[in-house]
Amino acid sequence: MVTKRENSISGTETPLAPGSTAESVDDDDNPFRPPKDLRAEDESDKRNSGISFSIKGMAGRTDSSAPHRPAPLAAPRTRKEIVVRKRLKPKPKLTGDFATSDSVYYRKTGNESVVGSGTYGKVYKAVHVYTGDKVALKKIRMEGERDGFPVTAIREIKLLQSLNHTNVVKLQEVMVERNDCFMIFEYLSHDLTGLLNHPSFALTEGHKKDLAKQLFEGLDYLHKRGVLHRDIKAANILVSRNGELKLADFGLARFYNKNAKLKQDYTNRVITIWYRSPELLLGETQYGPAVDIWSAACVLVEIFTKHAIFPGDGGEINQLDKIYNVLGTPSRTNWPGIVDLAWYELLRPAHKVASTFAEKYQERVSPAAFDLLSAMFVFDPDTRPTASDVLEHPYFTTEEPKAKQVVELKDLEGDWHEFESKALRKEKEREARRKDKESMEKRKLEGPMGDERELKRVKTGDAQA
Ligand SMILES: Nc1ncnc2c1ncn2[C@@H]1O[C@H](COP(=O)(O)OP(=O)(O)OP(=O)(O)O)[C@@H](O)[C@H]1O
Ligand SMILES: [Mg+2]
Repeated sequence: MVTKRENSISGTETPLAPGSTAESVDDDDNPFRPPKDLRAEDESDKRNSGISFSIKGMAGRTDSSAPHRPAPLAAPRTRKEIVVRKRLKPKPKLTGDFATSDSVYYRKTGNESVVGSGTYGKVYKAVHVYTGDKVALKKIRMEGERDGFPVTAIREIKLLQSLNHTNVVKLQEVMVERNDCFMIFEYLSHDLTGLLNHPSFALTEGHKKDLAKQLFEGLDYLHKRGVLHRDIKAANILVSRNGELKLADFGLARFYNKNAKLKQDYTNRVITIWYRSPELLLGETQYGPAVDIWSAACVLVEIFTKHAIFPGDGGEINQLDKIYNVLGTPSRTNWPGIVDLAWYELLRPAHKVASTFAEKYQERVSPAAFDLLSAMFVFDPDTRPTASDVLEHPYFTTEEPKAKQVVELKDLEGDWHEFESKALRKEKEREARRKDKESMEKRKLEGPMGDERELKRVKTGDAQA
């Protein structure tokens, strides 16, 4: 039986040098040891601290005050060491592309494996050559970094490592390969932008409710752990082939102070502008989870209608205009804190407009869904519901139909991310331009008569047919 004694366990026995006792390691001739008077203090600290210090072969020795005695001349002291002999498994034989892959994560060459391209670099789809598991490789962009590894990537990695929830994407590892650095994530076949723009796949009301529920469960987890996501939008929400939703892209996320009394300043230049809340647009720097709730409400409208609710032109003023045109201009009555915001005076709207929200959305969503959206799109962030309030809303708890996971996605052909849907849109636009050009050339060839005929056809109203 193996007995645990000191740090020596059964195995080979190694004699110590003749005449060297355990004590002789404390030899005062050792040039790396502090002088004895300084040491006395240090060692009494060690004894009192409860921390055990171990030098290989001497761990567990407690009596450091034992007097120096010459080593017994008889059998030299021995120590036992474990010799672990591992039987190596035979290396699996790889075939085809995997055999020639120079990385453990195989990906198709060139742009064929790209599934995303954003601020920090590209995201590739890859397969682990031994396990066959699909992964997403997010390349960390190093160009232009003068101070070594980018601090934004370190933040993202540290934050992701502290999270563990079914509705938050899993970071499996970080890999350095040649000169590149990658974050390795579990792979999900779709994101919400890709799914909502799919040319034929349609979500049922039950599916929509299930996606919405998972979105707020993920957010509830983050907020309870003290994390603000700060970039909630459809492209950063992944959906798996069996309908599981996971929040991704923690590039702008940060821990926040949950203690409402200890307000801290954060930058207000966060969140993709269409999803940015009015308080951020008006310069608020002491904000909390309500900013993510606003963004999530915008995503919810997209899930329900396939259209963005506030598609601005990219500028702050225009974005506020878009919001006011739907929700009406805010006032001190519905948002008492508005007057304290940094850019309130500067961006004060020239005239008041009334809300058109009910007119635009009441008929397009269920009554409970409309009520929930109205509760989230309030100007005053202090009165916006929390993620757990949202999950308690009748839309989720009582209104029919019940949430139903989108398992039908397993039969959907291909992977649908923002990247693929953009590529498809560009392809369609190219095709339309090509057709236009062709018909123009055809008309030219037909000569002036052809043009006249066309003119006549337009005039007689044939063109409208
Ligand atoms: N784990 C994953 N599985 C599948 N696709 C993913 C995964 N992670 C990211 N993607 C795809 O790659 C895209 C870009 O990834 P991500 O949002 O993390 O990167 P980004 O460079 O920070 O982009 P952004 O421009 O939003 O800041 C996502 O929109 C998504 O479509
Ligand atoms: Mg992103």
